[in-house]
Amino acid sequence: MSDHDYIHFHRYSFGPEEREAVLAALDSGWITKGPRVAEFEQQIADYTGAKHALALNSCTAGLHLALRAYDIGPGDEVITTPLTFVATANVIVHVGAQPVLVDVDPDTLNIDPEAIARAITPRTKAIIPVHYAGQPCDMARIAEIAKAHRIPIIEDAAHAIGSHYHGQAVGSLTDVTVFSFYATKNITTGEGGMITTHNDELMARLRPLSLHGLSQDAWKRYSAQGFRHYTVEEPGYKYNMTDIAAALGVIQMKKCDTFTARRQERVQIYQQALSHLPISCLGSIPDIVHSHHLFPIRLQLEALSIGRDELLSNLQAEGIGTAVHFIPIHRHPFYQRLLPEAEKSLPIATRAGEDLISLPLYPDLTPTQQERIIGVLEAQLKKSLR
Ligand SMILES: Cc1ncc(COP(=O)(O)O)c(C=O)c1O
Repeated sequence: MSDHDYIHFHRYSFGPEEREAVLAALDSGWITKGPRVAEFEQQIADYTGAKHALALNSCTAGLHLALRAYDIGPGDEVITTPLTFVATANVIVHVGAQPVLVDVDPDTLNIDPEAIARAITPRTKAIIPVHYAGQPCDMARIAEIAKAHRIPIIEDAAHAIGSHYHGQAVGSLTDVTVFSFYATKNITTGEGGMITTHNDELMARLRPLSLHGLSQDAWKRYSAQGFRHYTVEEPGYKYNMTDIAAALGVIQMKKCDTFTARRQERVQIYQQALSHLPISCLGSIPDIVHSHHLFPIRLQLEALSIGRDELLSNLQAEGIGTAVHFIPIHRHPFYQRLLPEAEKSLPIATRAGEDLISLPLYPDLTPTQQERIIGVLEAQLKKSLR
């Protein structure tokens, strides 16, 4: 099968504007953290309604910095969902804390707030909800629980740029939010991330921590604005975004709502076309805007004579790229060793990890491509009915 016929699982949407913006950055004489990063940060702050935004080279970096900024470390517990990319749990391990995985809601696959409430102990130092596939979690209930126990919330919004909850953009709902602009995400800078917060004190710590611990604005030390000594209060990381990446981000962000609308149209087509097949789509909570970063479906395995992975191989052989979001955290060997008892309390996430498939979904997915995906999936499922 030629690359032309293969339907990729994801495709970013770049136009001539992105190309021109990157070339302008290259020609500007300033390619690392600089004015374009500042512009992108302001744009995200304006869009989300957050007081501060800090651009980084990944969402993983942002989650790590947020845990560091709250001084979370050995002896502490951080509650999160098992149905996430491994980065969410890895950063908890990186700071020396213990991940505590709690189960998800069977309808949305977002973290179950009541399971969070049950898992809180005196050692719980943060909650990391993940807006799975772009659908906001039940943030009212999670915020209520967090407030009652004075525990900060760090939202993993890797999937949720453009998502809204009760009329408010994700990014301004709680203490800290972290976005991803990785190549597959709704808007992309290749690699990239962003932290948003209303908290002045926290941002005063996060900003230097993202650049070696250098005092504020030290990135200007090689600019025409002149020589200035920097100081280091604590050793930070090399997590800053570059101006080349931010040049992409500024253009992509202008298209964010249009991209979301185009994803939404494609989701509706999928939902209608697939409704008679032995699969189920995820449920949705009211009063939200869903960014539809992913379109996960769940196979009704009891009705089928083949397993999920065999179906994935068959779709691949027919030229359709798919993915699984996610193999749950507690099913990875490292986490099986770290949390050997976890699976017992995670039946819903465990089951989802066996029956989930994400279908291609992106703004430039054409009607013809979508028709082919639906047709091939239908044929494969019908052939495999018990
Ligand atoms: C839920 C979730 N969290 C975090 C990340 C990490 O994002 P990044 O690659 O920007 O570090 C991802 C990336 O796929 C993700 O899906």
